[in-house]
Amino acid sequence: MTKINNICCIGAGYVGGPTMAVIASKNPNIKVTVVDINEERIKAWNDEDLTNLPIYEPGLPEVVQKARGKNLFFSTQVDEAIAAADMVFISVNTPTKTYGKGKGMAADLKYVELCARQIARVATSDKIVVEKSTLPVRTAQAIKTILSETGNGVNFQILSNPEFLAEGTAIQDLEAADRVLIGGEQSPEGEEAIQALVNIYKAWLPEERILTTNVWSSELSKLTANAFLAQRVSSINAISELCEATGADVGEVAKAIGMDSRIGPKFLNASVGFGGSCFQKDILNLVYIAKSLGLVQVADYWEQVIIMNDHQKNRFAEKIVSTLFNTVADKKIAFLGWAFKKDTNDTRESAAIYVADKLLDEQAKITVYDPQVKETQMQRDLNYLQSRTEQENKENLTTTPDAYACCQEAHAIAILTEWDEFKKLDWQKIYDQMPKPAFIFDGRGILDEEKMKNIGFNYFVIGG
Ligand code: NAD
Ligand code: UGA
Repeated sequence: MTKINNICCIGAGYVGGPTMAVIASKNPNIKVTVVDINEERIKAWNDEDLTNLPIYEPGLPEVVQKARGKNLFFSTQVDEAIAAADMVFISVNTPTKTYGKGKGMAADLKYVELCARQIARVATSDKIVVEKSTLPVRTAQAIKTILSETGNGVNFQILSNPEFLAEGTAIQDLEAADRVLIGGEQSPEGEEAIQALVNIYKAWLPEERILTTNVWSSELSKLTANAFLAQRVSSINAISELCEATGADVGEVAKAIGMDSRIGPKFLNASVGFGGSCFQKDILNLVYIAKSLGLVQVADYWEQVIIMNDHQKNRFAEKIVSTLFNTVADKKIAFLGWAFKKDTNDTRESAAIYVADKLLDEQAKITVYDPQVKETQMQRDLNYLQSRTEQENKENLTTTPDAYACCQEAHAIAILTEWDEFKKLDWQKIYDQMPKPAFIFDGRGILDEEKMKNIGFNYFVIGG
């Protein structure tokens, strides 16, 4: 029976950091070292002041505090940590390719391959290598081929252990996971490796929630889970447009269908569009795999989820322009929220970026308030689109550390992220400081429509 005493995790990001913090806190006898090539990130993980952790995630500082310096370590010494480990998690980024074959669709596996090569180069003892990153089905085969070419007599077992946490609820999702999925080779050595990882999760999760499968099912299940979740959002968003055109209310429709236990109530919040680092990337990856296999209808089916999402972001921006008498040129538009959802500082693929880009094309002046996102990040997000010069972005999109200052003198307020604190603002005070007519475009459906209308706002809500 393989007993794990020492874990290395390559990649100290939104998944590697929280996941390893929880594994370490639940397994005090296992030494866990999280490594990254990004020195600044590692420095932040080691910061004495826990408010400076690189990731904003409720409950994370407490878990880090419990284990850091005892059996949880953050380091840039990648080779040393790999060499010392019995089990190595690969938790690096797998973004959509921006070049070459599969550009704009396939997952870029260069970081994963580099990890595999590094493990192969450094290892002098047998290791279990765990794919934690989200990977296309059959990637484990490529990792295995790279590792088995080392020729130095080291044995490797490859497991797939995709992560299902959502940002903003990562600690809760890890500590009370619906399920943990472990895919491994169907051989005695494979079974032994699977069991070694099962034992780590068994430290806090009931065994019936730990599913074991073959490697390919595990890899494909991760892409499928994200595709199904994103599909629910695009489905309800498609209905939201129908509601706006007919006088139905998407909140009421969502409630009515969600009470059918076969449908269920979760993930039916109509919105300005889903964001985040994974939904779009993983669906595109699924579409690419289907296309590569000649499964045209399968590819088209899933691609529609992305098409619907792009449409939702566009039509929100267009609604703002058309409602403001077909021009937002030189008008101040206040954005409440920039993160792709509440309780995270992550902005990857956030709908706010695309809505801002469209409005800047129309020469609006945008001011943003987000409780966790820094202005440098907002500018980085916009500059990445290369729609205009960096200087123009800087001049036309600014930020304030205060929601009231953000909304002051604005022609319209657009709610892009559902931060709880936005519900508690003094909306009368905000109204009094705006030119009239004053507009709110609630992209998250978080405000009380009647109350807003009674104050005097022209209130538009997605699907209302
Ligand atoms: P991230 O970008 O936050 O973190 C990845 C880290 O890996 C970075 O800090 C980067 O510097 C580091 N890295 C890259 N190459 C390296 C190397 N060769 N050696 C050492 N460090 C290296 O990414 P993330 O959001 O944590 O996602 C990681 C993976 O997990 C992706 O495949 C993603 O699809 C998947 N995933 C993400 C989430 C999520 O909510 N973010 C949830 C489930 C699964
Ligand atoms: C998502 C999945 O929920 C996780 O299970 C998965 O592990 C992760 O992707 C991943 O692989 O990265 P995450 O992207 O962090 O997690 O956040 P979600 O809560 O899924 O939200 C994604 C986007 O959908 C957000 O922009 C959110 O605002 C939007 N959304 C979600 C809606 O618009 N409506 C909903 O009802 C739910």
